[in-house]
Amino acid sequence: MHGGARLVGEVDVVGAKNSVLKLMAAALLAEGTTTITNCPEILDVPLMGDVLRSLGCEVVIDGGTATITTPAEISHEAISPSMGKLRASVCVLGPLVARCRRAVVTLPGGDAIGSRPLDMHQNGLRQLGATSHIEHGAVVAEAENLHGAQIWLDFPSVGATENILMASVLAEGTTVIDNAAREPEIVDLCVMLQQMGAKIEGAGTSTLTVHGVSSLKAVEHRVIGDRIVGATWAFAAAATRGDIRVTGVDPRHVNLVLEKLRSAGAEVTTDEQGFRVVMGERPAAVDYVTLPYPGFPTDLQPMALALSAVADGTSMITENLFESRFRFIEELVRMGADARTDGHHAVVRGLDRLSSAPVWASDIRAGVGLVLAGLCADGVTEVWDVFHIDRGYPNFVENLRGLGAEIERVSA
Ligand code: UD1
Repeated sequence: MHGGARLVGEVDVVGAKNSVLKLMAAALLAEGTTTITNCPEILDVPLMGDVLRSLGCEVVIDGGTATITTPAEISHEAISPSMGKLRASVCVLGPLVARCRRAVVTLPGGDAIGSRPLDMHQNGLRQLGATSHIEHGAVVAEAENLHGAQIWLDFPSVGATENILMASVLAEGTTVIDNAAREPEIVDLCVMLQQMGAKIEGAGTSTLTVHGVSSLKAVEHRVIGDRIVGATWAFAAAATRGDIRVTGVDPRHVNLVLEKLRSAGAEVTTDEQGFRVVMGERPAAVDYVTLPYPGFPTDLQPMALALSAVADGTSMITENLFESRFRFIEELVRMGADARTDGHHAVVRGLDRLSSAPVWASDIRAGVGLVLAGLCADGVTEVWDVFHIDRGYPNFVENLRGLGAEIERVSA
């Protein structure tokens, strides 16, 4: 990419990666055909399709629609090679324990952003009456009967909340998950499970109460818009001093992000369809602290770092979820950024412009952060290993070109 262009225009955002993959896993809970619409055309969706096929489902992905037909009998062994390619594959654990009363689930892959243990997933299942241990690279869980329980999570983990929720909807009696995650994607999952016949109270709060039912029915559901992709475009507008209107994302899901951009000097307006971010001058430095929702999302930390690298002043960025996310800073420094880390804090002194360099994407969000930085750099920046970006951002390069960026994708 050639840096320097001011990004101007409109982007329509489709369904959220971190929602659709869990909704696909939830299709395992009901015999019959589940239809999921507004799916993003990203690599992780067909990968999750492969996982479900290996369990006995028929899966058809046609543009933005995924149709999953789940038979009466499904396999309890999720051990296909696709399992290791994405984090969300672990979300079949809860549904398999609920449906089959046993599960063998290969430990998941996904972004290399730090250690991602499964202790809370396993403890939750144990409290519902299952045994769980790790054997030969897989989580093994078994239960004669699943029964309701009071579960306190040490931390509002998204994945653990989802797995425990999906196991408890078919358990006997009432389960209470305390300190549950409150992400909009969890609410989306609760909405689909409720349509399927699950009895869930408290979606979007930190206490989820689930009254188990004996079976669920397959439904049609539309995925919520991707707030992380939408907010990425907001950062792109701020970093390039541009003007981008984003549709397809509920602006309430990005309240804090938009507030941060206002503090950085952007003019931000919202309406029912989305939001618009206009930045007329050099952004001001702002501090960011990543936290579970409704805090600032860790998935946007690289975009916040890229913006801080060209902001006027000094920003402090605190990462509270994934310790290895700051690896991204090494690449940013190749581009001349004045940034350093100390434990889980990073200090960035903004420069007027970055300097182009070849840089390497280590995960989805770091890849996108580097592209944003390249758009604010003098000269031609090459970002390598962009296959990571394909896992989470549909039509990324096409969207950027539509906004006026000088960027092309080349094969090495
Ligand atoms: C999900 C998202 C990811 C996002 C993250 C936090 C998907 C596919 N990925 O990941 O994009 O960055 O939420 O918003 O939805 N932890 C434990 N033990 C556990 C589970 C988690 O210690 O059993 C820790 C993790 O190491 C991490 C923190 O809890 O420090 C949060 O992780 P979690 O919310 O579970 O993230 P994921 O569901 O993996």
